[in-house]
Amino acid sequence: MQIALREVHDSDLPVFFRQMNDPESLRMAAFTPKDPADRDTFDAHWKRVRASDAVHRTILVDGDVVGSAAVYGEPGEREVTYWIDRAYWGRGIATTALRLLIAEVPERPLYARAAADNAGSRRVLEKCGFRVTARASGYANARGEEIDEVVLTLDA
Ligand SMILES: CC(C)(COP(=O)(O)OP(=O)(O)OC[C@H]1O[C@@H](n2cnc3c(N)ncnc32)[C@H](O)[C@@H]1OP(=O)(O)O)[C@@H](O)C(=O)NCCC(=O)NCCS
Repeated sequence: MQIALREVHDSDLPVFFRQMNDPESLRMAAFTPKDPADRDTFDAHWKRVRASDAVHRTILVDGDVVGSAAVYGEPGEREVTYWIDRAYWGRGIATTALRLLIAEVPERPLYARAAADNAGSRRVLEKCGFRVTARASGYANARGEEIDEVVLTLDA
């Protein structure tokens, strides 16, 4: 299995839109847009992020688009995020993709936020060297309630 990152192409966006509208994925990620099925909001979001200095990458497995990963935010407060098509979960893809991404972006520290009960995402981050440094809570659109979240930090 060949896992690689590349720049985002316009033709990836409909694939991301489908991947990010999977109900189980939305529930897991929890902190999601208010209406993920709104294509106009999705397109406006991608227009903004592609014009920013965020690093957005498409994740390929053997040439297929299986998800996305990004580093975004203000200098000194950069956060990582990622999303994998549910059909590809549990094969080490997010872990490899995040390793490739943090190797490409030299800035440290890097931060990540995850729903406290998002065990898969927390495991991915820990395997890549992130450690829990804070706890918080916030309103999770995909759950319709306030939930606990963890902040993880990658220092060196
Ligand atoms: C979280 C997510 C990115 C993981 O992708 P993935 O490619 O399946 O991740 P990997 O296979 O690299 O690693 C997953 C790890 O978490 C573990 N894991 C997965 N689900 C778990 C669960 N419910 N409980 C405990 N561990 C779990 C796996 O066993 C694996 O650890 P291991 O290698 O020690 O066995 C994917 O599920 C996803 O896209 N979810 C929806 C979006 C999301 O939550 N994004 C992150 C927002 S913070």
